[in-house]
Amino acid sequence: SPGSSIPPEETLALVKPDAMSPATLEKIMDIIRVNRFEVVNRKKIWMTDNLVGEFYKEHVDKPFFPSLVTYLSSAPVLAMILKKENAAAAWRQLMGPASSTRAREEAPKSIRGQFGTDTRLNAVFGSDNAETAKREIGLLFGETVVPMTLPFDETATT
Ligand code: TYD
Ligand code: MG
Repeated sequence: SPGSSIPPEETLALVKPDAMSPATLEKIMDIIRVNRFEVVNRKKIWMTDNLVGEFYKEHVDKPFFPSLVTYLSSAPVLAMILKKENAAAAWRQLMGPASSTRAREEAPKSIRGQFGTDTRLNAVFGSDNAETAKREIGLLFGETVVPMTLPFDETATT
C-alpha cells in the first residue's frame, strides 16, 4: 500500500480435490482476485503419496495422517504461489478454520465456510507463514513435479 514499507511475501495455496470442479474453482479464483493477491505461478498437479507425506510431515504422527495422505493423492490439486503484504496470514484468514462445521458457524463467508464438506475435505490449503511457505513452494514447484493441463484459460485471469 502507498507509504508502507512492508515488503510483499509469498505463500502457497492449494485447491484440494473436493474443490476442483470448474464452478468452485472459478469462485475461489474470484476471491483471490478480489483480495488483490498476485498469482506468481500456478499449476495443476497430481501429488504422489510420498510427496503428500513429505508436504505434511508435521502431521506424520497424527491419527488422521494416513487418510490425509490418501485423500490428497487421490486426484489433482491446483497449486498457486500467492503474493502480497502478509500473504500467508491473509490467505489463512480467507480460508477459515479446517473444520467445515466450525467454518460455517464462525466464518460462513470464508472459503471453507462456503465450500468445505468436512475437516478432511476442506477445499483449500494455506501455508502457516512465509517461512514454511518457502519449503512448501520448493516441494511443489520444483521441476520434478510435472504440471498437468490447467482447468481454465490461461489468458482469462490476470
Ligand atoms: P491442520 O494443519 O490442523 O489444518 P489446516 O489445513 O487449517 O492447516 O491439518 C491439516 C489437514 O489435515 C487439514 O486441512 C485436514 C486434515 N485433518 C483431518 O483430516 N482431520 C483432522 O482432525 C485434522 C485436525 C486435520
Ligand atoms: Mg496446517
